[in-house]
Amino acid sequence: MDLKIRVVTGTLPIQPETAIFFSFEEKLEKNQSLNFFDKLQLERIKQITQKKDFQGKEKQILMIENIAPYQSIVLVGAGKRSDFNLVKFKKFLALAIKKIIGEKYNSAILRYFEQLGKNWVQLGKTIAEAFYLSNYYFDFYKSSEEKKKLHHLREFIFSVPNGNQIKKIEEGINLGQIISQGVYLTRDLVNFPASQVHPETLVEEAFKIEKASRGKIQVEILDEDECQRLGMGAFLGVSQGSERKPKFIILHYPNRSLNSDSLTPRAGKIRSVGISSSRIPRICLIGKSITFDSGGLSLKPSEAMEAMKIDMAGGAAVLGVFQILTQLDEKIYPVNYEIYGILPACENMPSGKALKPGDVLQALNGKTIEVLNTDAEGRLTLADALCFAEKHLKPDLIIDLATLTGACMVALGREITGLFGNNKKWLEKFKKSVKEEGEELWELPLYQDYKRMLESDIADYKNVGGRYGGAITAALFLENFVSKTAWLHLDIAGSAYNWDKIEDIRSKGATGWGVTSIINFLLKK
Ligand code: BES
Ligand code: MG
Ligand code: ZN
Repeated sequence: MDLKIRVVTGTLPIQPETAIFFSFEEKLEKNQSLNFFDKLQLERIKQITQKKDFQGKEKQILMIENIAPYQSIVLVGAGKRSDFNLVKFKKFLALAIKKIIGEKYNSAILRYFEQLGKNWVQLGKTIAEAFYLSNYYFDFYKSSEEKKKLHHLREFIFSVPNGNQIKKIEEGINLGQIISQGVYLTRDLVNFPASQVHPETLVEEAFKIEKASRGKIQVEILDEDECQRLGMGAFLGVSQGSERKPKFIILHYPNRSLNSDSLTPRAGKIRSVGISSSRIPRICLIGKSITFDSGGLSLKPSEAMEAMKIDMAGGAAVLGVFQILTQLDEKIYPVNYEIYGILPACENMPSGKALKPGDVLQALNGKTIEVLNTDAEGRLTLADALCFAEKHLKPDLIIDLATLTGACMVALGREITGLFGNNKKWLEKFKKSVKEEGEELWELPLYQDYKRMLESDIADYKNVGGRYGGAITAALFLENFVSKTAWLHLDIAGSAYNWDKIEDIRSKGATGWGVTSIINFLLKK
């Protein structure tokens, strides 16, 4: 599939099929971009906007056909001129693109307007993300006739008043394209059914990324025996009911361009990494990687199980981020950190060997967990990943992404990620990075008193709290396995998937939540 963006200046020899016009909440005459049309055309556009009650309110979309030289134009409501910014631009542009795709046009043009500002690289990146991400389908299983029906907007032309900025904008487009490819990888991995994506599949994907990185990234896999030897009883407990072996996947981006003293764990020999004063901060990204969550013996009802192929969305996001890291030119986009990725990958299945409610497991830090519900499995796998990160990788910050609780969806709905964290500075920086990308999240409290709900009569903790505050008790459970490191936890149970099939930048199915925001976070000074 070739989808392309071109940046041009001056008049075009051939006009594209459609044109996009951002329209603010004000008289149509004020919209400079529309000066492109003659008086008669403008009059017609005006009449139609009045008839259709188009006032330029945010997210209003109006397509008008037969406005020469275009087959159609799309007016996009942009709200108040003074409130406009690049985040809104990205969202509204995606809506316009979705509309054009829906009407089966192949090409579109957008002309630069003042409110887009002068950060040319950022502008190019924004356009590319809106274009590629809203142009995504998971069509692997569609027959070729059906595939043809899934229309793409193939060509997007961005027209600028003069040629001076073209290079910078193209640089940004290139960055946005690299990032979008990472999101595509994440979405594909989540969208493929659990019959195709197993722990070994995630291993293969990690090795593909390592290979393509030409030395920038190293991958190490810990198999069942090694996990056993290291004491990961919680992770292994979840996996024990499955026919498939668990894989504990570690990726490492040493960031050699900025970091001289960085060690990568070698196969079979995890080395504790030293802390030196000169080194750059080290971040560990952990992604929940349950390739299928049946609930285990605490079996889910069928409807709740339908979407449980998505339970590795956290891990898929970490792989998406690492793929992007391999592609970035460090000279242009320096990454400010040394980065580790961890995917504790396994299935959660019932069987004669499966974990039973009431069983007690011991995590890597020695703490014991009474498993009262085998469906609260993500926190068990993450407990060992958190302990491993802290003990063996010594990061300055751990960020975990996990489709962790249905309760988070009850609390925040199915689009907003729940954020928890133990460090104000990192929380604020992370929130800012997410906001700039237009992804949604909301901070929830690590309310310590609720830890009482996790008290067990026979072990150090139990793995479920009560009926209420389930997203919080899950986060508090995880916090028990982070002893001193700054840590952020993202509950993406709702946001990883486009449950309501909303037609915007997220596309149907997996959304890839977090990939663009985390890259923004890692590139930010
Ligand atoms: N993977 C689920 C959470 C989930 C639910 C993700 C819906 C995406 C959509 C998780 O493992 C789970 O089953 N959580 C239980 C916890 C409960 C048993 C304490 C839940 O939320 O019901
Ligand atoms: Mg579960
Ligand atoms: Zn789960």
